[in-house]
Amino acid sequence: MGNMKHIVVTGGAGFIGSHTVAALQQEGFAVTVLDNFSNSDPSVIGRIGQITGQCPALAEIDLRDRDAVFSFFREAGADAVIHFAGFKAVGESCLHPLDYFHNNIGGTVNLLAAMDAAGCKRIVFSSSATVYGDKNPVPFVETMPTGAANPYGRTKRVIEEMLSDMTASDPAWSAAALRYFNPVGAHPSGLIGENPNGIPDNLVPYIAKVACGELEALRVFGNDYDTPDGTCLRDYIHVCDLAKGHICAMRYLAEHTGFETVNLGTGRSASVLEVLHAYETACGRKLPYVIAPRRPGDIPRMQADVRKAKRLLHWSAESDLVTMCRDSWHFTIMQKERRESHAVHRHQGVSEG
Ligand code: NAD
Ligand code: UD1
Repeated sequence: MGNMKHIVVTGGAGFIGSHTVAALQQEGFAVTVLDNFSNSDPSVIGRIGQITGQCPALAEIDLRDRDAVFSFFREAGADAVIHFAGFKAVGESCLHPLDYFHNNIGGTVNLLAAMDAAGCKRIVFSSSATVYGDKNPVPFVETMPTGAANPYGRTKRVIEEMLSDMTASDPAWSAAALRYFNPVGAHPSGLIGENPNGIPDNLVPYIAKVACGELEALRVFGNDYDTPDGTCLRDYIHVCDLAKGHICAMRYLAEHTGFETVNLGTGRSASVLEVLHAYETACGRKLPYVIAPRRPGDIPRMQADVRKAKRLLHWSAESDLVTMCRDSWHFTIMQKERRESHAVHRHQGVSEG
């Protein structure tokens, strides 16, 4: 990939972005993280440096700031962009749809315009399995009709269509929208991972908090679905496998123009109770749970058809569910230790000062 040396990663300090930045650096790319830290911590940049031996360059910019984005791309000399930056909470998007349109869609318009002006015309975009909506049978194939049940999902659909229109308007553009299934786990070093503020909405971060005693019991949202154990099925994928999928997509874009959508999942699914039991194996003890009512909007089954990813990107996921849970658990313990040691240092600082 001689023509792809410098990659700009928007949202590179976030959960999936940070793992992808580390993987890119380990493959020899020069990386600049563009992030406003609205949902991440600047200390992640240093921790990526601990993993790879070199901190990525950092541009602290908000994609909604059009002038800042344009002036960054004028100077950056970027060969391609991986675009993670955006808001991602489904419930919040229903309460504040305009914030989602402004940040996700508005931010992407600024990004594409700045890239276009700078002659940087390759982009990998973080889409989601949520674009398959609730009408398609599993496994989900990229050719199926899309639908979106909430404003967050709609931003993903609209951005996919924007990318399709951009590539149709100018043959120099190439774009891939990667439709992630359920990314979980953490880097095996325990240095980076998923670290939501407050009570997590998503399953694995919630179980992690039960496992370390911060939450009492998992609430299993419904055990009366038409599935083998009555709980919902999802295609969980290790975040490090997902990160590698982005590198394969970059390689693809180096050789092809046009627009592609590609599922990134394992092609297998696990139930809520199976995930809980895998986490028990990882942390070495039984975890408490209660059966709760169904969560509104949940789809019983989500699973990727992964043939296109194999065919086009020569990529497939490798890690199994226990590995995903083991790495999540390792990160959770290390994160707890880091927090406690910061608290001790702060306390000592106060007492000494
Ligand atoms: P994340 O919130 O951890 O990371 C997003 C990063 O983008 C954060 O560091 C945040 O500070 C930054 N950001 C947000 N708005 C910005 C702006 N206007 N300017 C600059 N930086 C901004 O999320 P994640 O889990 O790493 O997800 C990354 C992408 O993948 C998102 O677009 C998300 O919608 C998509 N996605 C995530 C999942 C998932 O389960 N995590 C599933 C499907 C798709
Ligand atoms: C959620 C998002 C989706 C996003 C995906 C990526 C919603 C409605 N959807 O999907 O847009 O692309 O994350 O990861 O938020 N569960 C429990 N107890 C809990 C938490 C979850 O039983 O405390 C169950 C849920 O009912 C679901 C499964 O676990 O069946 C997975 O839930 P979650 O991790 O929130 O992911 P998704 O619902 O698949």
